Amino acid sequence: MRVFSGIQPTGAKHIGNYIGAMRQYVATQEQGDAFFCIVNLHSITVDYEPQDLHERSLDLAALLIAVGLDPERCTLFIQSHVTAHPEAAWLLSAVTGFGQLGRMTQFKEKGEGKEFVSAGLFTYPVLMAGDILLYQTDVVPIGDDQRQHLELARDIAQRFNSRFGETFKVPDGVYPEVGARIMDLQEPTKKMSTTGGTPQGTVLVLDPPDVIRRKFKTAVTDSGRDVRYAPGEKPGVSNLIEILSVASGAPIADVESSYGGRGYGDLKGDVGEAVVEPFRPLHEQDAQLRAHQAGL
Ligand code: AQP
Repeated sequence: MRVFSGIQPTGAKHIGNYIGAMRQYVATQEQGDAFFCIVNLHSITVDYEPQDLHERSLDLAALLIAVGLDPERCTLFIQSHVTAHPEAAWLLSAVTGFGQLGRMTQFKEKGEGKEFVSAGLFTYPVLMAGDILLYQTDVVPIGDDQRQHLELARDIAQRFNSRFGETFKVPDGVYPEVGARIMDLQEPTKKMSTTGGTPQGTVLVLDPPDVIRRKFKTAVTDSGRDVRYAPGEKPGVSNLIEILSVASGAPIADVESSYGGRGYGDLKGDVGEAVVEPFRPLHEQDAQLRAHQAGL
């Protein structure tokens, strides 16, 4: 089974990236022939500093290895080192509908209110399709926010195959059963995000333990008291329940039932602790790996 996924070297990675993507990468590395790509060409579609992007690429390589990717067992590489990626994007753009690209919600969200919106931001999903299709990928472990882009990649593969003959495998997205869309702790109707989130509502994988605890303590919930999983009605509480379910390994129903008679304060404290513990050894591993710039 061929696995492929890409991740951007933008900013510090948050627990949404970890739960939606990195955790799945580590699991799928054991199941198949896995390729993980630091997609720096995607990151130049919005404003960036070249030297900073270089450093962030190395930061991300160190973090991916620290969370458990093993370069002996998977292929971990930088997108711009393989020029076939932008070449594929150009060829595939000729079988991609302009109208279909215009319907991508991420383009609308990221372009909204910006003085300058690059054409690259518009065509970014075609590059993502090229990333995936080049490797005859069977499965793509990703978060829910990438679902629309993955569907586009599937459409592009099908259109290319029907026009030129069977060429590309049509890949399947793999989304975590719990935690496919982690929400911002301060604005729980919006996904936790590097560019669009609130600083206090975005928990970084490398935040110090006290900062993680504080961010969970100040998470927005609702005026009720019952710890119940109902994303539409109680987005904040439901987000915390999902995070606790992932961090503790307990099913959502078990997390809910363990709070009989206890309130949101307990839940927030417990989620903070449950997230701090598994990330504790990561800090040291990450710092050691990052210090070896040449090795990275
Ligand atoms: N909130 C999230 N919940 C679950 N999964 C998420 N992913 C992103 N946000 C969440 C998944 O993380 C992987 C890497 O995404 P990326 O390459 O887009 O990296 P990013 O720029 O750090 O992601 P953000 O925070 O989503 O950035 P912006 O602000 O640019 O939109 C993907 O598999 C994604 O699904």
